[in-house]
Amino acid sequence: MTATATTESVAGIVADALIVGITADGTVADHPQLSEAARTALDASFAALEASGKLGSTSVVPGVSGVKATRVIGVGLGDGDSNALREAAGSASRACGKKPATVIVALPIADDGDAAAVTHGVILGSYSFSSYKTDADPANTEWLIAGASDIAVERGAIVADAVNGSRDLVNMPPLDMYPAALADAAVALAAEHGLEVTVWDEVQLAEMGCGGILGVGLGSSRPPRLVRIAYAPAGAVGTVALVGKGITFDTGGISLKQSKPMETMKADMAGAAVVLHTVAAAAQLGLTIGVTGWLCIAENMPSGTAQRPSDVIRIYGGTTVEVLNTDAEGRLVMADGLVKAVEEAPDAILDVATLTGAQGMALGTRTSGVMGDDDVRAEVIAAADASGEAMWPMPMPAHLRESIVSKVADLQNMGDPQGGGMLSAALFLKEFVGDTPWAHLDIARPSFNEGGAHDYNPPGATGASLRTLLRFLAVRASA
Ligand code: BES
Ligand code: MN
Ligand code: ZN
Repeated sequence: MTATATTESVAGIVADALIVGITADGTVADHPQLSEAARTALDASFAALEASGKLGSTSVVPGVSGVKATRVIGVGLGDGDSNALREAAGSASRACGKKPATVIVALPIADDGDAAAVTHGVILGSYSFSSYKTDADPANTEWLIAGASDIAVERGAIVADAVNGSRDLVNMPPLDMYPAALADAAVALAAEHGLEVTVWDEVQLAEMGCGGILGVGLGSSRPPRLVRIAYAPAGAVGTVALVGKGITFDTGGISLKQSKPMETMKADMAGAAVVLHTVAAAAQLGLTIGVTGWLCIAENMPSGTAQRPSDVIRIYGGTTVEVLNTDAEGRLVMADGLVKAVEEAPDAILDVATLTGAQGMALGTRTSGVMGDDDVRAEVIAAADASGEAMWPMPMPAHLRESIVSKVADLQNMGDPQGGGMLSAALFLKEFVGDTPWAHLDIARPSFNEGGAHDYNPPGATGASLRTLLRFLAVRASA
């Protein structure tokens, strides 16, 4: 899949499909590269279909006279801002037929932000995961973005490819995506982009005292890993650490999950996948800010060697935790990663984790929860709004702190049984960040689309939060 800008007149380009915008009054949106004659002809076709300007609504017509594309997709633009354009482009990209070779995108782009959003929309919306289909012959579409600058499309494609890279890791079946395999993927990506990378295996983790990652990994025949990957450009304005939850499969461990909620638990490493590809994308974009990613990787399995409810483990740095429920494993592996990140004194830490089912109870399947220090949390929310990702600020009520204090250890890995599970999990993580400015993103449900395709999200992994992290970094880099 490639995306490039074009300055040609769109009616004259031979292509499998042409994408145009439909405005609120049902007419085809103006585009400087769409001739008046072609637009008039298309208007008549879309009017006959009563094409809608509702965001993401698609109408498809066969090519009209004077337009060389085989089919034309009219997509509702909604309010037409950058975030609407991304969604519209995503919906339209899924209506281009089977394996289109060339698609022209002639949506109303006002600036580089719009151009990047349209590029995201088509590359993300047309993504499919077919590595395990024996007869797969995936499309290799060339997307021609009309009215965009080369640089905006190029940078938009870097971001979208990073999101798709993280989706690939999450969509891989856990038989093949086990802790060492995820660490290997990080090493390979680091080599590709000239990044520093360190992997600690289970022996080294034991020497170091990373009892959280080790404890969670005890039940699996495939031992855990910690990965540090760093982009450290010359002249960086500072450094941000990103910590990702990398549970390659979460059975719940001895506190075993039911089979239905277990089905999607290959996605429990979405935080680590997003962090990894964010670091690589920051390097590709040449952001002038240091970015260090920490991937906390384990497989949470029940077995004769697994940790038990009531075991006490020691997190890196010495804090002891009573494991009351082995299914609350995310906070245990994240605790080690957070303390490792804090040691390097970054300017801020953002952690990303599919941490709690309570996130979905509170905010539903598409909106991530953001907790942490007020100002960092606000900075993350602003980055999310600007990048078109749904995130919402959530509190960390002081009274819930008591609910994570153990009778036998410093902390326990369960909060108040009456509710607020997303919030007590955040309070648990807060114990490990000290004074470092910090925010926590709970992406549990938004990271994996269990329903049908919508806008630029196919079923399966979404890559949620990657665009927000990159925006957060880019804003700091240019401040
Ligand atoms: N990985 C899950 C959280 C999750 C649930 C992610 C649904 C995506 C969709 C996490 O490890 C977990 O099992 N959390 C428990 C915590 C509880 C035992 C305190 C949960 O939310 O039920
Ligand atoms: Mn769990
Ligand atoms: Zn989990």
